[in-house]
Amino acid sequence: MRTDVFTLFPQAFDWYLSQVHIRNAVELGHEFHLTNYRDHTPLSHLQVDDTPYGGGAGMVLRIDVVCAALEAVFPGDAACLKDGRRVVELTPKGRQFDDALAAELARQDLVLLCGRYEGIDERVKHLVTDRVSIGPYVLSGGEVAAMAVLDGVTRKLPGVISNPESVVSESHSDVLEGGAEYPHYTRPAEFRGWGVPEVLLSGNHGEIDCWRALQVRKR
Ligand code: ADE
Repeated sequence: MRTDVFTLFPQAFDWYLSQVHIRNAVELGHEFHLTNYRDHTPLSHLQVDDTPYGGGAGMVLRIDVVCAALEAVFPGDAACLKDGRRVVELTPKGRQFDDALAAELARQDLVLLCGRYEGIDERVKHLVTDRVSIGPYVLSGGEVAAMAVLDGVTRKLPGVISNPESVVSESHSDVLEGGAEYPHYTRPAEFRGWGVPEVLLSGNHGEIDCWRALQVRKR
């Protein structure tokens, strides 16, 4: 699978892309590419944004700049990019990102478009398959949202997480019927008077499974 992120701040991804599960994914043959819109702008003075038609605060990322960047990386008409891959605009106005969408996005090559300031010119709708939000709040740009989506999607790629069971049964997955995962404890068994549920120390896996199922239901 190939993932491309288009952003004005590619350096924001440096730490994230150095994480072990991304390195695992690269070793498995997955590709991650970052493109700075500014490197491909057809406008003078490296301009990428403009004031909104109709007036109002802020700047809007120009659609000609977005198309130029997409077409520099994927030669051809940017509007055809969505044939055969998911092209996602990160925007607070989008569909809420969840585990099911992460699994869906992990099935095809992925292009993530990050906006900044007031976002991307609305005509980006002609280029995208999805508009995705990571929550009902406005961030300063799509980069943090893109990292959340990248992380959720990359964890779904076969072989990326060394213990596949942890992906299948983690919070919000189908196995847990969309609920939160059961609580986890590790050593020491007692710390400052705070104990661990006896059942987890019992070694009885049948009882442990029952207890965990009960916790999921309670949550
Ligand atoms: N860009 C700004 N806010 C965002 C959000 N909540 N989700 C996705 N992209 C965004």
